[in-house]
Amino acid sequence: MEFEPTIGAYVVSRYDHLRSVLGAPETFSSRHMAGPQLAALAASLPLEQQRLLALMSSLNSADGFDHTRIRRVANQKFTPMVVRRMAEGIRAKVRKALAELDHEIDFVSGFAAPLALSVIADVLEVPDADRELFRSFVQPVLDLTNGEEVTPEVLGAYFAGMTEFAAYFGRTQLFTELPERDRLALCLALVVAGTDSTTNLLSSLVLRLGEGAAPVEGFVEEVIRLESPFRGFFRTATTDTAVGGVRVAEGEHLFLDFAAGNRDTSVFDEVLDPQRPPVPPHLGFGYGTHYCLGAQLARTEARVVVEEVLGHGVELVDAAAAVRYRRHLISHGPAELMVRPAKRPG
Ligand code: HEM
Repeated sequence: MEFEPTIGAYVVSRYDHLRSVLGAPETFSSRHMAGPQLAALAASLPLEQQRLLALMSSLNSADGFDHTRIRRVANQKFTPMVVRRMAEGIRAKVRKALAELDHEIDFVSGFAAPLALSVIADVLEVPDADRELFRSFVQPVLDLTNGEEVTPEVLGAYFAGMTEFAAYFGRTQLFTELPERDRLALCLALVVAGTDSTTNLLSSLVLRLGEGAAPVEGFVEEVIRLESPFRGFFRTATTDTAVGGVRVAEGEHLFLDFAAGNRDTSVFDEVLDPQRPPVPPHLGFGYGTHYCLGAQLARTEARVVVEEVLGHGVELVDAAAAVRYRRHLISHGPAELMVRPAKRPG
């Protein structure tokens, strides 16, 4: 484990080290899970903007009792039954989008991202009439969290979007067991955690479809493992401790490189094998108390997209090797992926 000064954190990359850090949330806090640099930026902002930025700290950056309290309420929206009920709606959206695909498009911005966002809007019960409004204030928020560069313009648009987000979801009737601030922050957490992650996964699936997609469930797991659509998150030591024999002082940060753990050769190899047994589990959705809340929903979207895309026939315009990936520490997926309807034989 080495300290990486450019991100201000030790990088944890071995599977066993990752599991032990993720399994000890009292020692490794999630309070700066998006990284120490964001925390430093927050401290330099005017108070009103600090308040808006603090809304980003919800479930994913809560610890201990606070985390359990919010997670218990959030879980209601993600039970197996709720997710199963969403599957047909997802399939209808995917079929509609595929039926409209009669020319070359960028699969990332023209298919995966709108689908992922539309499913989150369903989770948040945004009425049809408000979908365009929802998209307009959510997009600048996502441009900051998943964009390649934070310019003053991106930051300005982000705060404008956040102000509208807060006004809109301030009235939400979801998660009413929680106080208003937590309700709002949870809605935001679902958007931020569930949109670009899924976009990355769907795009990576289409990119690797040619490598053999049966059984579909196994193919989806392998793409999550090998591509790790969210590459990793941070933890902060709550006490002096050690990881893999390296001392970590209280207050120091760790970057949990799930993507590296998912390719740790003492546990896995780099071959995409849809038949690979699910044990030991990959870390693409994390592990332990913060294990991805939306994992089953993401898997459902992924399975439906693979099935429908295979049925419909979609091909890459360029060779997979020519695809450019996003330049981002956490969000990992193709930046653009040109596809077109496949030519049917005969
Ligand atoms: C392919 C898609 C996805 C990937 C790869 C992914 C990945 C992850 C990972 C790695 C974590 C753990 C973070 C940590 O330990 O610090 C996580 C947590 C979380 N994810 Fe996902 N996610 C995906 C989709 C979704 C979706 C669709 C939603 C919601 C609709 C969602 C909501 C969340 C939330 C709320 C958490 C925080 C849970 C907690 O702290 O208790 N994710 N996700």
